[in-house]
Amino acid sequence: MTDTTSTAPEDTQAVATATQTPADKQLYPAVAMYGPCNVFDLQPGKVKFWCRCGLSKKQPWCDGSHKGTGMTPLRWMVPPKPQRLYALCACKYTADPPFCDATHTNLPCEVLQRQGACMHKDGHDKATKLCTGCGWVPDF
Ligand code: FES
Repeated sequence: MTDTTSTAPEDTQAVATATQTPADKQLYPAVAMYGPCNVFDLQPGKVKFWCRCGLSKKQPWCDGSHKGTGMTPLRWMVPPKPQRLYALCACKYTADPPFCDATHTNLPCEVLQRQGACMHKDGHDKATKLCTGCGWVPDF
């Protein structure tokens, strides 16, 4: 995957900071993928918007799909030291966003348990874009 996107989401006023994690707001993102997105040749110093909700179709970057979820992308500046490969989190549960920290390895069981115990489970239907109480999405 090469660096082809750099557009900012329309609601940049609400962009999260690096210190804000899903646990801070008790919002659970959807798992976009159980593994990292390997991104190549990012331009040092360039500002990117890493998807935190898991709904973007342009992973790992925000495409505005988070609207209405209460979640916002992470504004991230590519570090100044150039590197060929960036392994960026796609499960959205990393403790070191936007980087993959291998949290996805043990995540499937945790996600299934949380979704099974979700207090909003009866409201999960096709009309729900994302249940931030557990991370459930219609296409899961
Ligand atoms: S945070 Fe914007 S699409 Fe996921």
